[in-house]
Amino acid sequence: MKIVNFGSLNLDYIYRVEHIGGQGETLAASSRDVFCGGKGLNQSIALARAGAKVYHAGCIGEDGSMLLTALEEAGVDCTHVRTLEGPSGHAVIQVEDSGQNAILLFGGANQTMTSGFVDEVLGVFDAGDILLLQNEINLLSEIVDKAYARGLKIALNPSPYNDRLQDVDLNKISIFLLNEVEGEQMTGEREPANILQKLTEQYSGAEIVLTLGEAGALYGCGQRVCRQEAYSVQAVDTTGAGDTFTGYFLASLTEGREIPDCLRLAAKAASIAVTRSGAAPSIPLRAEAELF
Ligand code: RIB
Repeated sequence: MKIVNFGSLNLDYIYRVEHIGGQGETLAASSRDVFCGGKGLNQSIALARAGAKVYHAGCIGEDGSMLLTALEEAGVDCTHVRTLEGPSGHAVIQVEDSGQNAILLFGGANQTMTSGFVDEVLGVFDAGDILLLQNEINLLSEIVDKAYARGLKIALNPSPYNDRLQDVDLNKISIFLLNEVEGEQMTGEREPANILQKLTEQYSGAEIVLTLGEAGALYGCGQRVCRQEAYSVQAVDTTGAGDTFTGYFLASLTEGREIPDCLRLAAKAASIAVTRSGAAPSIPLRAEAELF
């Protein structure tokens, strides 16, 4: 069984600010860093650091060599990462003193997938393999349809949640991994328990992993519900914490571990990630997460 993550790769421009700027406001940043990010790249690195064998598929621009290097150094198979003319995707991220963020995305090369590339990538994966997706690349519905037809098991992080997801046949998804904001956008419910109930009813048979920040996480599948408490840490930067949780949860699940164990390890890894700056650089190694 192989894991392929068809996902975004972004250069993250991270600005530290006292508070996240509002409409019409001009803010001075106290620092700027450029880190590797993108929900796709972060989740591939989290999978790899958790010990899983993962193949990343996606596109970068001519300015994206540091993204490729970061994936390779983490041990991700980059056979299906293409370098194209034009800019890579990037994100402008404000991080305030509480560690919370606001993210502005520019799609760049992440929005240049073609049907031919989708066929080429999916052609080397088979029934039973796992496909991980987020919502930062184009052709998502086509990728879901083609992967489902080949018998791949599809895990979706519906983030960012927007109208484009309405074109995707979500009945083909086996595992949803999302936060409470995306949960509310999908269901109209605010209470985590209600979000979980609606999703498990609507997508019966699918596994739902709902991350709740400082309140931990919930897992639901059919009538089964598991709760995971968060670990108490001093947050520095929450960027990429959800991606860390996703990668660690999936890696543990594919090892055949019990759901409470998968949730516990993912929560530990995500808790470590929020104590560090940046998305990809904040993702811990497996040994660190185990010892936490
Ligand atoms: O989930 C965090 C990520 O969202 C950042 O790395 C940024 O690139 C955006 O994709």
